[in-house]
Amino acid sequence: MEIYGLRTHYVTITTMEYRVECIKCGRRFPAHKIIYTCDKCNGLLDIKYDYSSIDNERIVKAKGRGVWKYKALLPFKEGSSSSLSPITINEGDTPLYRCDRLAQSIGLGIGDLWVKHEGLNPSGSFKDRGMTVGVTKAMELHVKGVACASTGNTSASLAIFAAKAGIPCYVLLPKGKVALGKVAQAMMHGAKVLSLLGNFDDALRVVRELCEEENLYLLNSVNPYRLEGQKTIAFEIAEQLNWDIPDRVILPVGNAGNISAIYKGFLELEKLGITSSVPMMTGIQAEGAQPVVRAFKDARTEIIPEPEPETIASAIRIGNPVNAAKALLAIRNSGGLAESVSDAEITESQLLLARAEGIGVEPASAASIAGLRKLYDAGEIDRGEKIVCITTGHLLKDPERAIAICEAPQEVMADLESVRHILHATATLNKNREEHIHIYA
Ligand code: F0G
Repeated sequence: MEIYGLRTHYVTITTMEYRVECIKCGRRFPAHKIIYTCDKCNGLLDIKYDYSSIDNERIVKAKGRGVWKYKALLPFKEGSSSSLSPITINEGDTPLYRCDRLAQSIGLGIGDLWVKHEGLNPSGSFKDRGMTVGVTKAMELHVKGVACASTGNTSASLAIFAAKAGIPCYVLLPKGKVALGKVAQAMMHGAKVLSLLGNFDDALRVVRELCEEENLYLLNSVNPYRLEGQKTIAFEIAEQLNWDIPDRVILPVGNAGNISAIYKGFLELEKLGITSSVPMMTGIQAEGAQPVVRAFKDARTEIIPEPEPETIASAIRIGNPVNAAKALLAIRNSGGLAESVSDAEITESQLLLARAEGIGVEPASAASIAGLRKLYDAGEIDRGEKIVCITTGHLLKDPERAIAICEAPQEVMADLESVRHILHATATLNKNREEHIHIYA
């Protein structure tokens, strides 16, 4: 088939085919062409499949675990010379926790709230799902190296997968704006780490130019293959709920790739007839970095970039999210919402989740809980809705923030009397269970 003078390139995955397509003008690109946005209209790209050729059983009855369990809906050709073993560190298969105590503290019903803890991926964030697919694709394309800009987690994950694949990795981080655990990971796993004098949006602009000039493979979420890995969050949620779906999914939004990916995953399940609807996709941003929320509330299809984004949730300190167009479609087409939360609300929710449910997350992830609380209190979310909040990164990613918001450890002499004295004086020793829960919830 000829479209715009290009031969449409299909790759067969046993019974499946896929192609790369611009979401704005529909232009199609060969699957082997290294391209991130449409060269005609600059629109974002998406991977399209021929769903009529897939047998639902390959999803519903798939064996294995994690991202590659759903390989029937991933853009690789099985059993061909171009197919490689996936570059994998056992990403995905994260727990979906039922959170009754948290639900009660918010005012929701028992059994109505779940948390999907993506912080329990091997590198401590959901990025691993995208990177296993993205770096496997990089190997298939025989690139000489991989690169990204990052607020931290993308760089940590990419460094790990590049190490596993044995290819060079270059990461651009906004100087002084990345949480400690994430920088440590990128450094430890052997990436060349550059500390850029600018913010994330500057870093993304520069790394895109770098990849173009130096033939490096860009693995930010503008790369459509990465989002294919991340859509498996939707498959897992549905499967963990026995192929049912929640009414609403709430998650933090930064560069706006994850919400787009998860929406796509739910849409695919619906298209295949495995589920019968799609959850209301609800995106949460920080007050100091909320271009998507503003566009949603003003009924605009394009964002107005924020030149100086600021929030303690450094992972989502982004003023010009590259996937905003996809995210706005996901939110609107699913009947979802977009809301912003303050740093104080994020901190409160981070503590609440940690203490009421034992789920330790970094600040950006707590934005999903903060958003839920705000929207529920405002009457935008109904009691009785079945809700899944996605927590995107682990607490230990940002240990400095955790230490800053908690009571400091108290120094004590090395004898029992001194220890008892302090515990009685601070009235913590004889507190009963109910009182303890009440204080924290
Ligand atoms: N939560 C965490 C912990 C993140 O690290 C990110 C993004 C997001 C949420 C937002 O996801 O960008 O798909 O909307 N972190 C990127 C990074 C930008 O460089 O690590 P998104």
